[in-house]
Amino acid sequence: MTAIAIIGGSGLTQLENLEVSSREAIHTPYGDPSSELVFGNLKGREVVFLPRHGVEHAIPPHAINYRANIWAIKQTGATHIIAVNAVGAIADLEVGSLAFPNQIIDYTYGREHTFFGAEYRQVTHVDFSDPYCESLREALIAGAAQASLSVPAQITYAATQGPRFETAAEIARLERDGAHVVGMTGMPEAGLARELGLCYAAIAVIVNPAAGKTTGEISLEEIEQNLDIGVSKVRVLLEQVIPRIDGA
Ligand code: HPA
Repeated sequence: MTAIAIIGGSGLTQLENLEVSSREAIHTPYGDPSSELVFGNLKGREVVFLPRHGVEHAIPPHAINYRANIWAIKQTGATHIIAVNAVGAIADLEVGSLAFPNQIIDYTYGREHTFFGAEYRQVTHVDFSDPYCESLREALIAGAAQASLSVPAQITYAATQGPRFETAAEIARLERDGAHVVGMTGMPEAGLARELGLCYAAIAVIVNPAAGKTTGEISLEEIEQNLDIGVSKVRVLLEQVIPRIDGA
C-alpha cells in the first residue's frame, strides 16, 4: 500500500528518481485534483506524487483545488504527506536553503478551505494548535542532518493569497505578527490534511527575500535560480527521509 504522498510545488513537477509504476486520474466529490496521481517506488518505499500546480505548472495558488488534492491523496490510502512549498524570507534566512515550518498564520481568503461546510450537516471542529505533524517534521529534521543541510526548525509560515507578491508594508505587518517565511500555497492545504487525519509536514524552499527585505523588485529570474538550488536539496532530502518514516 502507498502510505507516503509528496505534493510538489513550484520547481518540483516531477520526481526524477521515482520508479513510476502507474498513473491514476482520481475524481473526487470536490472535483479533480491538479493532475493524475503518480505512483512509484522511491528508495524502496511506495510513494504517490502530485504536482500542486499541475504538470504544466499552470494552476495559480488561489485556483488550486486543494480539497480535491487532499481528498484524492486520502483515497490512495496514504497516511503521510510531505508538501514542498516555495517561500519568500521575512526573517534573515539564506535564499536557496530549506526550512520546516512548525506554525502557520493564514491570511488567505475565498478559497474552499474545509470538508466540514454546511453540506456536511454536522458542526465539526478540528484541533490545529500545532498545524504540522511533529513526527514527520522530526524525520525531516533528522534527514536534513544526515544530508548535512542546516535547517532552522522553528519557523512560522504566513500563507498569503497571491498571485501577486506582498507590499513591503504587508511584509512588515507579517513580521510583527511573528512570521518568518511567506508563501501562497500552505493553506488551506495543511488544514484540509488535518481534517482528514493525515500526518502532514512541509519543506519550505526559500527562493527570495520578501518584499522590502532587499533593494529593488522581486525578480522572477532570481526566484527561478534559487528554486533550482533549493529543489536539488529537496531531492537529496527526500531520498534521506522517505526510507526512515515510521508508521507509514
Ligand atoms: N511571497 C509569497 N509567496 C512566495 C514568495 C513571496 O515573497 N516567494 C515565493 N512564494
